[in-house]
Amino acid sequence: VKTGVLRDLREKMFNKIVTLDEFIIRSEKENPSSSGSFSRLLRDIGIAAKIVNREVNKAGLVNILGVEGSTNSTGDDVQKLDIFANEKFIETLSYSGEVCGIASEENQEFIPVKSNDTSKAQYVVVMDPLDGSSNIDVNVSVGTIFGVYKRKSPDNGPCKSEDFLQKGTEMVAAGYVLYGTSTLLVYTTGNGVNGFTLDPSIGEFCLSHRNIQMPKAGNYYSVNQGYYLKFDLEMRRYIDHCSDLNYRLRYIGSMVSDIHRIMFQGGIFLYPNTRKYPKGKLRLLYECYPMAFLIEQAGGTAMTCKLERVMEMEIHSLHQTSSIAMGSRDMVRDMKEFVEKYGTVIK
Ligand code: AHG
Ligand code: MN
Ligand code: MN
Repeated sequence: VKTGVLRDLREKMFNKIVTLDEFIIRSEKENPSSSGSFSRLLRDIGIAAKIVNREVNKAGLVNILGVEGSTNSTGDDVQKLDIFANEKFIETLSYSGEVCGIASEENQEFIPVKSNDTSKAQYVVVMDPLDGSSNIDVNVSVGTIFGVYKRKSPDNGPCKSEDFLQKGTEMVAAGYVLYGTSTLLVYTTGNGVNGFTLDPSIGEFCLSHRNIQMPKAGNYYSVNQGYYLKFDLEMRRYIDHCSDLNYRLRYIGSMVSDIHRIMFQGGIFLYPNTRKYPKGKLRLLYECYPMAFLIEQAGGTAMTCKLERVMEMEIHSLHQTSSIAMGSRDMVRDMKEFVEKYGTVIK
């Protein structure tokens, strides 16, 4: 039996707390290919998540206090939370020294990070700093999604667009933070998925979900059914099928929260192409690739509604969008059958 397995068992038996930092360092030791700088980068993402969490939790309070207009008591502008989250992640990652560029859903162009020694900054980060922003004002869960790539451009100069325009299969890490009833950070480096819950009393993310494997089947489906009439025939047929089988419809409107449920309880998440968004709405780089990476690592399937594997989709521009169907293996397989039967694109 591997020493790691015995140690995990012992920790579970004695309820030993394993912090995110400890876990990252341990993973680095166990995986010779992972570097110290990669560990530091993951740790910095954890720090930024804690800062954003603090702000998400007091967002309601700021509203209740009714600070007039958009200024707070010290006269600063009260920022929209998605802008705040964006700035905090950019700030933390820029100072980390490990990142040569950041691409965010909130910025039109990628942001090169200046460094005295560019050769040390080997990674680029892609992110949706605040996912589900329509939920912010009503106290419903929001999240952050991130992905990490190794740069491709020469490391003696600034980052280039080729560093970001890499397929999902090239990602070296991906994860999400869920700011919910508790705050969780779930991530993968391609070696399984682990989840950490923020313990506010010690201010640390603690390992709470080891080696997450999602159910092979489920009975939740998550889709904005309000757009039903705007979906292609095959999607309407599949949604009818879910309804026929009395699957439960759950749709929070924050991909992170909806996927999180599916990850633990099984189900399927759909954001098909609609007449308004013929290519889908969700962003390949900031939302689809990282979530697909996690879902696959947890034993699920992620494809587009045209049945391409999300992780292998070609990417040509930072804000490219895609349709998406991801979740429990058996449910995605059923959805695929409907596309094959009723779809007009696939022969
Ligand atoms: P964001 O808040 O980052 O713009 O993302 C919202 C996304 C996704 O999280 C969610 O599943 C979807 O948009 C909701 O869109 P609809 O309101 O069109 O259903
Ligand atoms: Mn989003
Ligand atoms: Mn967002």
